[in-house]
Formats: sequence, C-alpha cells, structure tokens
Amino acid sequence: MKVIFIGAGPGAADLITLRGARALAEADIVLYAGSLVSKDMLVHCRSEAELFDTSGMNLNEQIAQYARAKQHGLLVARLHSGDPAIYGAISEQMRALEDLDIPYEVVPGVSSFTASAAVLKVSLTRPEVSQTIIITRNEGRASCIPEGESIAALASHQATMAIFLSGASLQNTVEELLLSYPGDTPAALVCKASWPQEKTYSATLSTLLSGVFSEDWRLSTMLLVGEALASEPGLASRLYSPEYSHRFRKAVPNG
Ligand SMILES: C[S@@+](CC[C@H](N)C(=O)[O-])C[C@H]1O[C@@H](n2cnc3c(N)ncnc32)[C@H](O)[C@@H]1O
Repeated sequence: MKVIFIGAGPGAADLITLRGARALAEADIVLYAGSLVSKDMLVHCRSEAELFDTSGMNLNEQIAQYARAKQHGLLVARLHSGDPAIYGAISEQMRALEDLDIPYEVVPGVSSFTASAAVLKVSLTRPEVSQTIIITRNEGRASCIPEGESIAALASHQATMAIFLSGASLQNTVEELLLSYPGDTPAALVCKASWPQEKTYSATLSTLLSGVFSEDWRLSTMLLVGEALASEPGLASRLYSPEYSHRFRKAVPNG
C-alpha cells in the first residue's frame, strides 16, 4: 500500500507522464483537485477505482481516506495539477502520511508555466536577454508572500517571470511590474493552457490591461513577462552553431 502524488500536467489528458498514467491505471482510490485537474484525466483510472474530488474536502478528510486505504491495503493516487511541487500544498499531506507511517512517492508533472510557453510558442530563456525564470504568485488568502518576494522586488531583476494565480489581481500585478520593466516589455496571459477552453492574449506590459476584460482571466491564468518572449530572433544560443565545439560534437571550420 502507498500513496502516489502525481503531477497531472496543465489539463490535457495526454500531458500526464507515462509513469503518472500507469500509476493512475493501477490505483484503487484516486483523489484529484477537481478545481484544477481536468476530468478528462480520469480516463486513465480503472472503472472500479473510487474517485474523490478534493476541492470540497479539508485536509483531515483527505488524510482519513489515506488511513482507510492503509487499513485495507489499497493503492492511492493523489492527482495535483501541473507539477505537485509548485503551489501544490503537498508538504502537509506528506507530514501527515509520515505520522501515519504510510509510504508515499511523487511523480512529477508538466507545470502550467512551461505548458503556457508551449502554447505561446516562446522560449522563456534567451542568451544575453534572460537566463533566469522567476516563478512566483500573487498573494492568496491561504498563502502569504514572504518579505522581499513582492512582485515589485522580483521584477527588479528584469528576468523572465511566470506569475501564477495572477488572474484575481491583474491590475495590481501589472502596476508593480511596470515599476521595473519598461512598458514595451512583452507580456502574455494564458488561460487554461491545453484545455478545450484555452485562450491567450499577448501584448506589452503597458498595453496588456487595455486589451482584456480582467474578469475573463480570473481563474487558471498564467502571466508571463520578459524580453525573452519577444518574437524577433535576437541573439541565438551558440549550442547548435556549427563553429561551436563541445564534449559531444566538434566544430566544423567555416560552418
Ligand atoms: C494552485 S496553482 C497550481 C500550479 C501547478 N502545480 C502547476 O505546476 O502548474 C494554480 C495556478 O496555476 C496556474 N495554472 C494551472 N493550470 C493552468 C493552465 N492549464 N493554464 C494556465 N495556468 C494554469 C494558474 O496560475 C492557476 O491559478
């Protein structure tokens, strides 16, 4: 018996890992965060599996299912959206499992920030533009932001930023970003990447808000910002340049 935390990916049923899908196919009990995990993902489950949507359950109710599974020797799959390590609230579950002496493992998933970059067909890093991605979020009622990690403070690096849970306070977020980034910095919103309802909006930081009705972007929205998102080619990485040698390939003189 064990509990397997599985990254469900951003939404599409085929964006879960093979390992995650195999674990789902074996599980007797499946707990999934119904507010963010697409029901399509449940096609990977056995038809006899017991399914629980955790969006209406508190931590104790979830732990009670783990304890019941231990009693009966059942395999539990716990599905989290994207990758479980990012804003997944898994540590409190892990501590409770340790207290109950229940073994667990984690299967990573495709996070929504990389899924959003894929939808936009952009690279989040570019040589001499940005080689750093700052993953952050807006403050929520359940999660305070530590001092020094305000959007304005992080924006001062002018790196690429992937801002989770940004939909509810888009206006404030953009205002804080504009304290450090130039107004013509590329910015994009991606809502429900890989879901049938997926939508995107690309603009610059200073024009982003005038082009959207914020209410339409409240939930499941990723805000990506940074010069690396610009469509002009700029400097390319030397990695595949014919003149560049490395451990696995010799440079070709004159390309
Ligand atoms: C509680 S966090 C979970 C993040 C998740 N663990 C991950 O790695 O993507 C929820 C936030 O992730 C982002 N998100 C989740 N799924 C998304 C999707 N399909 N498209 C865009 N953003 C998404 C949104 O910012 C949403 O408010």
